[in-house]
Amino acid sequence: MYDGLPTPGRNDECWCGSGKKYKKCHLSFDERLEALYEAGEEVPPRDLLKTAEDIAGVKHSAEVNIGVLDYVAERIGPGVTTEQIDQWVHDYTVEHDAIPAPLNYEGFPKSVCTSVNEVVCHGIPSSDEVLKEGDIVNVDCSTIRDGYFSDSSRMFCIGEVSPEAADLVRVTKEAVEEGLKAVKPWGHLGDVGAVVNEYAKAHGYSVVREFGGHGIGLEFHEDPFVSFVTEPGTGPIMVPGLMFTIEPMINAGAQEIDMSDPNGWTVRTEDRSLTAQWEVQLVITEDGYELLSW
Ligand code: MF3
Ligand code: CO
Repeated sequence: MYDGLPTPGRNDECWCGSGKKYKKCHLSFDERLEALYEAGEEVPPRDLLKTAEDIAGVKHSAEVNIGVLDYVAERIGPGVTTEQIDQWVHDYTVEHDAIPAPLNYEGFPKSVCTSVNEVVCHGIPSSDEVLKEGDIVNVDCSTIRDGYFSDSSRMFCIGEVSPEAADLVRVTKEAVEEGLKAVKPWGHLGDVGAVVNEYAKAHGYSVVREFGGHGIGLEFHEDPFVSFVTEPGTGPIMVPGLMFTIEPMINAGAQEIDMSDPNGWTVRTEDRSLTAQWEVQLVITEDGYELLSW
């Protein structure tokens, strides 16, 4: 087949783990994939498609991922350091039989990313960084439980924030919700990014191009890359079983970013304008999608 992966015989067991014969299970599904490929579409290889067992494993992981963000939400506020957030995330995660995925990931030194104000992503928690009234901060949690990955992030407004900051945070959340409306099985992934980009631009904001969402499940970052500056009708087909994140980074000012921080991680807006991000994780189903973490 198009993906070069082995395909069972008609009477052999299906590749999806259902235990059914291939001809009674994914045979016609695979024929649909092959036809799309022949028609010139970008079709994800079948080893990216999650089985029922995979999805159950990711949901178990996501219980901790959602729980840790709820835990942070109850405690974050003025005077809290980003180091304190890191400790909450680390301790909550390990106490729930899970591992914080960022810790030591490609050398990342902490258990969570905390990105304050003009920091686009990958902010490193620090005891020197005290949250103050008016700050906006993204807390990005990624969790491994029994080998399954979950990943989501939320924005937090510290005390009263400026109307400009509040609007950016709200619009960025709405952009994700609009993007979700464009998630359709057998549709193009580029439809999602196009909707997000249009929504951000309509509010006078810009979308970061260099970072985006990603496939996830058995690894932290799987294919496909999920861009939020795409054209409708382009990109991979959202095949049932495909699992990925929607996590646009939206800037109040220009879309350019500055990656020159000597720590090798912290990304800022080039013009030092405010930036926001929300992240959700989902899996495509036969008739829509299922949100897994948020
Ligand atoms: N959590 C980020 C994401 O949404 C990735 C962070 S990479 C890390 O994909 F090393 F900083 F953890
Ligand atoms: Co992510």
